[in-house]
Parts: sequence; structure tokens; C-alpha cells
Amino acid sequence: MILHFAADKPRWKRLKLHDGWCVWITGLPGSGKSTVAETLIKFLLQRGIRAQLLSSDELRKVLTPKPTYSLEERDIVYATLVYIAKLLTKNDVNVVIDATGNLRRYRDHARSQIPKFMEAYLECPIEICIERESRRVDTRQAPQQIYKKALEGKAPTVPGIGQPYEPPLNPEIAINTAECTPEQAAQKIIEAILEKWYAKI
Ligand SMILES: Nc1ncnc2c1ncn2[C@@H]1O[C@H](COP(=O)(O)OP(=O)(O)OP(=O)(O)O)[C@@H](O)[C@H]1O
Ligand SMILES: [Mg+2]
Repeated sequence: MILHFAADKPRWKRLKLHDGWCVWITGLPGSGKSTVAETLIKFLLQRGIRAQLLSSDELRKVLTPKPTYSLEERDIVYATLVYIAKLLTKNDVNVVIDATGNLRRYRDHARSQIPKFMEAYLECPIEICIERESRRVDTRQAPQQIYKKALEGKAPTVPGIGQPYEPPLNPEIAINTAECTPEQAAQKIIEAILEKWYAKI
């Protein structure tokens, strides 16, 4: 009976889906996610590969314009982010997620939902993240001076200070951004992408 229905499925329902890939760039605030993601998109374009940047800070502007960064709110923001990434990849759009995703379960959820998925972990000592975050001019939609506020006890929700940041246990790629330029980091990610999803083409 089930087979009968499967055979009767309209053609558009039998089309191969899930052809896009998704790379989640994770790391502490100030580790360089947005800078590296932007460079990665540029490098991909130079190779004729299009990818949609999906930033949690941009999503928050729409979904939670007055963010509280509570656990409940984060659950909604990350569930939405993964849902969008899933829809896009299902329809052949490649996605680069730029989001701290401080709890492992947010990223594990993406992995469970998106067949072609990879985590790129930007490792960077928190002292360097703090320094970079305090000096950056363009925050790319992220709130400003969050570590300062966290260290002064005015912001209890900052990953790495008041909230945990759980690094990936088995990231496909880990890059120490204290020891390389954003261009070198993006280059390493593109090499992993090419190796994983374009090597057989
Ligand atoms: N190797 C590097 N990789 C990435 N960023 C670097 C590097 N060296 C210096 N920087 C600088 O560090 C800052 C990183 O800020 P960025 O906004 O990219 O971090 P983020 O991880 O997106 O932080 P947030 O989680 O707050 O959005 C930028 O000002 C960038 O120019
Ligand atoms: Mg950012």
C-alpha cells in the first residue's frame, strides 16, 4: 500500500532535494565569525559558488528586535535559524551560518536537520576576543562592547563570561584565529568545503 502511494507521488515530490550545503561558523563573540564569513562568501563567489549568509544577529533584528538573550529566546532564535537553513539547503541554496550558537545542542540540531552540514570552529583565546570586540568599529549587527558590560556585571547573558560557550567536540574544521588572518581562515574553510562537497565533480 505504501509502495503504491510512493509510486503515485507527483513528479515534483520525487525531485531530489537537500542539495545545498551548510557551514556553521561558530566561536566566542569577537572570535571573528562575521569577518571570516564575509570573506568566505567573497572567496566562494570568486570560484563561482554562491552561498547565502545567515547571521543570527541579522535574524534577531527581525525576530527579536529587543533581544533579551534568555535561554527561551535563544531556543527560538536558533530553532528559526536552523529552520531557514534547512529550507534553503533543501532548495539547493548553500548557506553560511554566522552565529555563536553557544550551546552544542543548537549546532547538533542543525546537523540532524541538514544532510550536508559542517561546523567550522573559530578557536580564539577569550582575552584576544575581548580585546578585538572592544576595538572593532563595525560590529556587523552584533551589540557593542558586550564583554565590557559583562565584566562590569551589567550583562549576565554573554557567552564566555556569564553564559557557557560549549566548543564543538568534533568540528570538521577548527581554526585558531589568533594565529591567522581572516583571509587565511576563510581559505581553510573553503578548502574543507571543496574537499567535502566538490572533490568528485
Ligand atoms: N584572524 C582574524 N579573524 C577574524 N577577525 C579578526 C582576525 N584578526 C583580527 N580580527 C578582527 O577581530 C574582530 C572580530 O569581530 P567579528 O565581528 O568578526 O567577531 P564575531 O565572532 O562575529 O563576534 P560576535 O559574536 O559579537 O558577532 C574584527 O574587528 C576583525 O577585523
Ligand atoms: Mg558577528
